[in-house]
Amino acid sequence: MPKPRIIAIDGPASAGKSTLGARLAQVLGYLYVDTGVMYRAVTWEALCQDIPIEDEAAITALAAELSIDITRPQVEDGRQYTVYVDGRDVTWDLRRPEVDQQVSPVSAYSGVRRVLTAQQRAIGLRGEVVMVGRDIGTVVLPEAALKIYLDASPEERARRRLRDKQALGCAIDYETVLLAIRRRDRYDAGRTVAPLRQAEDAIYMDNDHMTIEEELQFILELLQADEAVENDRTWPENGESR
Ligand code: DC
Repeated sequence: MPKPRIIAIDGPASAGKSTLGARLAQVLGYLYVDTGVMYRAVTWEALCQDIPIEDEAAITALAAELSIDITRPQVEDGRQYTVYVDGRDVTWDLRRPEVDQQVSPVSAYSGVRRVLTAQQRAIGLRGEVVMVGRDIGTVVLPEAALKIYLDASPEERARRRLRDKQALGCAIDYETVLLAIRRRDRYDAGRTVAPLRQAEDAIYMDNDHMTIEEELQFILELLQADEAVENDRTWPENGESR
């Protein structure tokens, strides 16, 4: 099967990007990188250090000095990866409600984006990577050979998020989750730096009525048909290994 060196998956919150990205990386034997965790790591660290989220200069300085490391899972507790911040395992802390609430403004700071985008790009350019986020196909790795824009209705995404939150033991109701999803959509799409939008050459997938296996099948068929790797602009020499 032809394999593009870089696969970018973008889309709104709770569209299922992580599930699809992790599965696809597993099938291809690629590294899976969820870039959202990097914005979450900066947010969590700011909360720990009592740095006000509205202090853009301090948050930007924090992003520049933090060492964020994403590795394969180091503990078998259902996680898809392990995230270390300055050597500490913060994987589950990044899913706390207070991080959910504060991460959007942090991710809108241009200085924070500059720092994290450079780190993400360096990882991506090594190749054999499935990278998931909001701006991977448009800003971080525009040369990605396969770009997927994964979408689902706000209602379906709220149902999924509610299930995840309840599994973590959070007492939260559907209406609250739906409101939060709509608010994050507005924030992610409305910010001036690297707003969420579909890259012109991305393939649009609405997974409201798709199972993860169907999504995976759809992408593997695309790869099989060679459509997705036809114009692998980064590695023309990659043709030999296809
Ligand atoms: O995917 P997530 O919910 O973990 O993302 C957390 C926040 O970071 C969310 O507000 C969107 C933002 N984000 C971003 O702006 N760019 C990315 N590449 C990934 C996430």
